[in-house]
Amino acid sequence: MKAQAIKINERVYWVGAIDWGLKEFHGYQTRGTTYNAFLILADKVALIDTVKAEFKNEMLARITSVIEPEKIDYIISDHAEMDHTGCLPEVIDVVKPEKVIASKEGEKALREHFGLQHEITAVGEGDKISLGSATISFIETKMIHWPDSMFSYLVEDGVLFSNDAFGMHLASSERFDDEIDRGILDYEAAKYYANIIMPFANLVTKLLTKLDGLNLRLNLIAPDHGPVWRRDIERIMKQYSDWAEPKRTLKSLIVYDTMWHSTEKMAGAIAEGLLAGGAKPKIMPLGVFHDSDIVTELLDSGALIVGSPTFNSGLLPPVAGFLSYIKGLKVRHALGAAFGSYGWNPGSVKLINETLTSMRIEIAGEGVSAKYVPDQQALDQCFKLGAEVADKLKKES
Ligand code: FEO
Repeated sequence: MKAQAIKINERVYWVGAIDWGLKEFHGYQTRGTTYNAFLILADKVALIDTVKAEFKNEMLARITSVIEPEKIDYIISDHAEMDHTGCLPEVIDVVKPEKVIASKEGEKALREHFGLQHEITAVGEGDKISLGSATISFIETKMIHWPDSMFSYLVEDGVLFSNDAFGMHLASSERFDDEIDRGILDYEAAKYYANIIMPFANLVTKLLTKLDGLNLRLNLIAPDHGPVWRRDIERIMKQYSDWAEPKRTLKSLIVYDTMWHSTEKMAGAIAEGLLAGGAKPKIMPLGVFHDSDIVTELLDSGALIVGSPTFNSGLLPPVAGFLSYIKGLKVRHALGAAFGSYGWNPGSVKLINETLTSMRIEIAGEGVSAKYVPDQQALDQCFKLGAEVADKLKKES
């Protein structure tokens, strides 16, 4: 196939792949994505990361548009997950590089994934390799996203290859942030953070502090998904800092599913109570909104109020699935509450409260249950629950 490399600066080229058809990434609904790989043309030629297996030919064609792949001296694997290494064994066979470089954990992970026989040079925090006319140093970024993850930094050019961090799942023809609408960037970067990086929020804060201490000159941040940052470098770093330490705002999410509209009516009454109390409710019915979009909205929300009718002594499956999804993402900052209708077993509210508590979410109160169809008294209780949550949020914000 024919495909062109895109020049990122005087010696760095984007040679990745665009996955226009990706809709689902481990439970996260995406707008496609890119698997970014970067070629550095110095005295020695280095390739930073590769791409998902089925995009190997697209990457090799882009490389071939500027240099024969066999001229690559070093392949650097910043992260072993298969969206960046799926074609690595085959690319090693084609390129026959002098060195394959990974973190210490990366070396193990690559062998465990692929049984790689090629020697792997393991590097750690602060190690450097010379490309002759340029230097790459390595920064350990354990658990952002996996134990093996690391950043590579092209010292002379001030380019930080940040692998998963600062990325987004967005397929586009544009390669730089300033070529894409900022509203799209803000939303997609937040969505990516919420669905991929959020479980490691405490490590994000430490990483940002470390980067600050390294006093890196940052002309470009080149992640492995989405555009290269050249205009909004400070903005994306500030956003990561804010997202890693979320505040309780007045925005309050009401997330529910319903069988016969009873739980839906309760959601409406809670929203009115929130509004009357000065909070900003946002109702996101499951089945209308995808879990990954709801989690994105949670990033800057002060409350999460979850509703389900009792269904076969449990929760409706979409509610149970949503709670399981956010439990893994370690959502903790929001104030929690529960509501729901029932026929003969008022168990759903208790189950939701137990699940939120197990996630270390603070619960605002007992919650509200309503038999069959909520009467005015039950709707008044829902209104009161909303007003109480609003009151608590106002005191904290
Ligand atoms: Fe883009 Fe953790 O892989």
